Amino acid sequence: MDSIISDQLILAIKDQFQLNWNGVHGVSHWARVCENGLQLAEATGANKKVVKLFALFHDSQRLNESWDPDHGPRGARFAELLRGKLFDLPNDEFDLLFTACSLHTQANTHIDRTVQTCFDADRLDLGRVGKILDPKFLCTEAARDPKTIEWANQRSINGFVPDNILGHANFL
Ligand SMILES: [Fe+2]
Ligand SMILES: [Fe+2]
Repeated sequence: MDSIISDQLILAIKDQFQLNWNGVHGVSHWARVCENGLQLAEATGANKKVVKLFALFHDSQRLNESWDPDHGPRGARFAELLRGKLFDLPNDEFDLLFTACSLHTQANTHIDRTVQTCFDADRLDLGRVGKILDPKFLCTEAARDPKTIEWANQRSINGFVPDNILGHANFL
């Protein structure tokens, strides 16, 4: 898929992941979030490196599959810990990644289009846990497009595993 996400980075995240790697907050969800975000980025102009790393880190520190309101800030700090070791980003891009991970469960939207795109990429995959997507909780026009919602929702409900580096990590 790209050079920003290496197998070593995925394995470091998997090593400490507390939940089911193939569960509702596991790597197949991350793979769909990644594809959702990259698809949206074509319209929103979001930073694609940040979108990919958000997909990987945003739920990486979850401690349960239900109510865990601090998993976003923990995921952001985990990204900070691995930065410079297993991936790298300039300060301005890292700030966007940190913000998107930190706030993804706490903020409805954000002023920055990359952060908005990250939020939407995650929310477009809510069908897998039986939630009906309400467009008013989506930040970008691209995500609110009924065709986009239908596309992402069907993949989410069906547990579709994308053909990308995170989809392949399903079998790691
Ligand atoms: Fe999350
Ligand atoms: Fe998520």
